[in-house]
This record gives sequence, C-alpha cells and structure tokens, in this order.
Amino acid sequence: MKFQKLLRAFLAAQTLLAPTKAQIQAPAPPGLAPPISPSDRIYTGDQTSNTLTVIDPSQNRVLGTISLGDTRLSNTLNPQYIRSVSSHGLGFSRDGKYIVSLSVLTNTVTVIRTADNRIVSQTSVDRGPHEAFFAPDNTTIWIGTRGVSSVNIIDGINGTLTHRIPTADGPSKVLFSPDGLTAYVNHIRAPVISVIDVASKQVKYNITGLADTFSSDMMLDATGYTLIAAHKMTGQISVVDVHARRVIANITTGPETNHPNFAVVNGTTHVFCDGCDDSLDLVDANSLSVIDTMRVGQEGHKGLGLSVVNRLVPVLSSSGEQLHSNGAGPPQALITVRQTAGLDMFQVIGRNLRLNGSHTASAVPVCEGCGGGNVRIPLVTFTASTMMKDGCGAAPQVLAFFKWFGVYEVGSLEIVED
Ligand SMILES: *[C@@H]1O[C@H](CO)[C@@H](O)[C@H](O)[C@H]1NC(C)=O
Ligand SMILES: *[C@@H]1O[C@H](CO)[C@@H](O)[C@H](O)[C@H]1NC(C)=O
Ligand SMILES: *[C@@H]1O[C@H](CO)[C@@H](O)[C@H](O)[C@H]1NC(C)=O
Ligand SMILES: *[C@@H]1O[C@H](CO)[C@@H](O)[C@H](O)[C@H]1NC(C)=O
Ligand SMILES: *[C@@H]1O[C@H](CO)[C@@H](O)[C@H](O)[C@H]1NC(C)=O
Ligand SMILES: *[C@@H]1O[C@H](CO)[C@@H](O)[C@H](O)[C@H]1NC(C)=O
Repeated sequence: MKFQKLLRAFLAAQTLLAPTKAQIQAPAPPGLAPPISPSDRIYTGDQTSNTLTVIDPSQNRVLGTISLGDTRLSNTLNPQYIRSVSSHGLGFSRDGKYIVSLSVLTNTVTVIRTADNRIVSQTSVDRGPHEAFFAPDNTTIWIGTRGVSSVNIIDGINGTLTHRIPTADGPSKVLFSPDGLTAYVNHIRAPVISVIDVASKQVKYNITGLADTFSSDMMLDATGYTLIAAHKMTGQISVVDVHARRVIANITTGPETNHPNFAVVNGTTHVFCDGCDDSLDLVDANSLSVIDTMRVGQEGHKGLGLSVVNRLVPVLSSSGEQLHSNGAGPPQALITVRQTAGLDMFQVIGRNLRLNGSHTASAVPVCEGCGGGNVRIPLVTFTASTMMKDGCGAAPQVLAFFKWFGVYEVGSLEIVED
C-alpha cells in the first residue's frame, strides 16, 4: 500500500502545462521542458462532480472549476438528450491551445480553449469514449471508445466525427509517439497494443502478450521507446519495448494500479501510478515524498472542500470472522464515500472475494437514541462476479447513492460474505 500511495502522486498524464507555449507530452526529456511559470495550468477531470479543476502550479493554487453539467447522480437517471455527464479523460493539443474532456456517461467529447477556458465544440461519438489525445496536427482528436472495436477520430474545432479506425475490442486510450508518426492504443477487452500509422490511419501491427486483458491507462516515456500499460484489475503493469514490438516485463504493482507516468530521479527512471482519489499530490521527485496536496473537484458546481471517506475494509464470514488470504491476498474492499448533491455516493471496490459470492456492506448509525450503536444497517449487497486471474471474484465498481454523512459511523463500516 505504501507503494500505491507514492504512485498516486503523478497525474501528469492528465495535466497541461504552459497553455500558450508548445507542448511536450509529459514526461519531457531532460532540459526540454521550461521551468514552471505563472502562466502554466494543470487541469484535472473530476468524474463525479462533472467538472474540470484548473490549478496554477506556480503557486499550488486551485483557481476554479469548469462545470460541464449535472453531477453523477442528480437527474441523470433520465434520458440525457443534450447534457454531458461524467467528465473523465483529458488530453491536450501540442500547441497548448486546446484541451479535450470526455464525458463517459453521455459519450460526449468537449473541447475547451485554454486561453479563456471556453467550450469550442461538443461532439457525440461512439459508445464509451474514455481517454483521447489531439493528433500532432493540433485539431483532430483520436478517441479510445471502449464500447466498440474502433478508434473514433473527430475534428475538434468543428465537432465532426470524421473517421473510425478498426482495432481490437474495447480501445481505451490513444497516445502518439513523440515524432507524431505512430499512435498506440490499449484495450479493455484484448491483451494487445494496437500500433497505428497516423498518416494512413491503419493498424500496422498488434503488440501481443500483455499481462492482462483489461488495460485501463498507459503512458509512453520521453524517448518514445517504452510504453507502460496499467492493469487495474490484476494490479500489474506490462512494460512494452515498442521498437522490439514486445512485452519485456510484467510487474506486480498492487491493487488499483492506474494512470502510470514516468519521472527521472537522479538518473534513474521511475514509474508512478495512482488509484482514484479527490486530491492531487505533488511529489518532490528527489526525495520521493509528497510535498503538497491540493483538493480538486468531485462534486457540485464548485466541487471543492466537500467530504470524502476512503477506507480499506476486511471482508468477514457470516459468523463474523475475518476471511483469510486465498492465495492472491486477503479478501478486502476499498470503500469510498463522496459527498454529492442531494445524496452521497457510496462506492465499493472488492478484491479476492469468493467468485459469484454475495456480499453486504453495512454500518452503524451515528444517532444516540437508536439502539446504542448496536443496530447494524445493511447498505448495499453485491456479487463478486468478475473473475480474477487466480479464480477469485472481484467487484470492480459497486455504486449506491444514499445519505451517508451525518448518518453512519465511518469506523463501523463492515463487509460480510452472505
Ligand atoms: C502543432 O503544434 C506544435 C507545437 O506548437 C507545432 O510544432 C506543430 O507544427 C503544430 N502542427 C501543425 C500541423 O500546425
Ligand atoms: C469539419 O472538418 C472536417 C475536416 O477536419 C471536414 O471534413 C468537415 O466537412 C467539417 N465539417 C463541417 C460541418 O464544417
Ligand atoms: C490486430 O488485431 C485485430 C484484433 O484481433 C485484428 O483484427 C487485426 O487484423 C490485427 N492487425 C494486424 C495488422 O495484425
Ligand atoms: C506477461 O503476461 C502474459 C499473460 O500472462 C504472458 O503471456 C507473457 O508471456 C508475459 N510476459 C513476460 C515478459 O513475462
Ligand atoms: C537523489 O540525490 C539526492 C542528492 O544526492 C539525494 O538527496 C536524494 O535522496 C536522491 N533521491 C533518490 C530518490 O535517490
Ligand atoms: C459465475 O457466474 C457466471 C454468470 O453469472 C457463470 O458464467 C460462472 O460459471 C459462475 N462461476 C462460478 C465459479 O460459479
């Protein structure tokens, strides 16, 4: 877990530096990136609050949020005719003029001009847009659309879907090589990296043999030679030598490994990843310690400073004993509760559970006069129906919405195998 905490620090895959200058895709080779200046900005995509948070990295200050519409659960159970919900992946154009945000719930691609943070275009694309980047032409956007088997290409300025490039199933993210000639695509339903020739828009070859079928995020190093694909479900990374066109190592990094990035510390290249959180940690790459933490949006039009709870909870048997490790690690669940408009969002990520087993999360109410703290209230029941590598069950994302803050004791959270 210590490793995980450290890894959470680098969100550079989703950052934008120096909006008015040419961009060098993070991480930059030594000496290429200018020092941080007051005109630099970092943007984060805040999925639950449906906002973008704008940060001034020269002062480590949150400047404000850009709201894209409703929060994750307000009126979003209705059909969404025109609104954009669930702001997720961010990518920037190399000239620094635009940033693209993907709304994963409504399949919308929003382009924002960095000079004035105004929306330039909103485009509906194929199912499941997840992560995207501007191509080196600074206007077209290549989008990993997870629900289909093709990468979508749009004109980001006039908002037109112009191409679909057939790929392996479930493209998740698109990255471009530093020279702009090649695009790399990871997937959530195929253990391959599709390698695309940018000029002809054709898959040239597939790099096979990734550690797992599901790859959420990935990153290229500054040289463009090494690609790291993160496998959130199995807690691994695949290290890909893109020139040799093969996976050179599979490394176990820990649960929820996501959003990898690179940093060169004292001449040694380190890889950082993160799990999900509502803060941006700033890490001193020399001491490898967190030197500042900024709250970013997760909720509401401002989305700042609202409550969030993160707790790793053991899974108990129905008779109340803690269940033991069955090989891969102890059965446990990460519970996150976020304060949101109207109701709070209760999220469970369960690992190393009994495959297809039913589990119930419960907690004890805060109130004094309702049973002396002994009444345990069931909150949500879920099935661990995702098979992990070793045959255990996982529940990658259980969501429930109810009033939590002020109602239940955080310390009383418990998960029991039914
Ligand atoms: C895109 O922007 C980069 C950085 O400013 C620049 O080098 C490149 O020439 C631009 N591409 C086009 C097609 O204008
Ligand atoms: C938008 O731009 C693309 C080229 O990038 C062009 O093919 C298309 O016709 C344009 N659409 C509109 C509505 O202008
Ligand atoms: C890459 O993989 C996809 C999906 O399996 C397949 O359809 C395609 O033909 C492959 N492309 C090449 C160039 O091997
Ligand atoms: C990585 O894992 C995959 C899937 O288990 C396997 O096929 C591949 O050989 C492994 N690669 C290396 C370099 O260990
Ligand atoms: C990097 O080098 C500096 C100076 O020698 C040292 O203080 C620091 O601990 C080193 N950091 C790491 C991560 O090795
Ligand atoms: C788990 O459930 C799925 C369908 O829900 C079924 O296909 C699978 O065989 C079950 N596995 C076990 C071990 O019960």
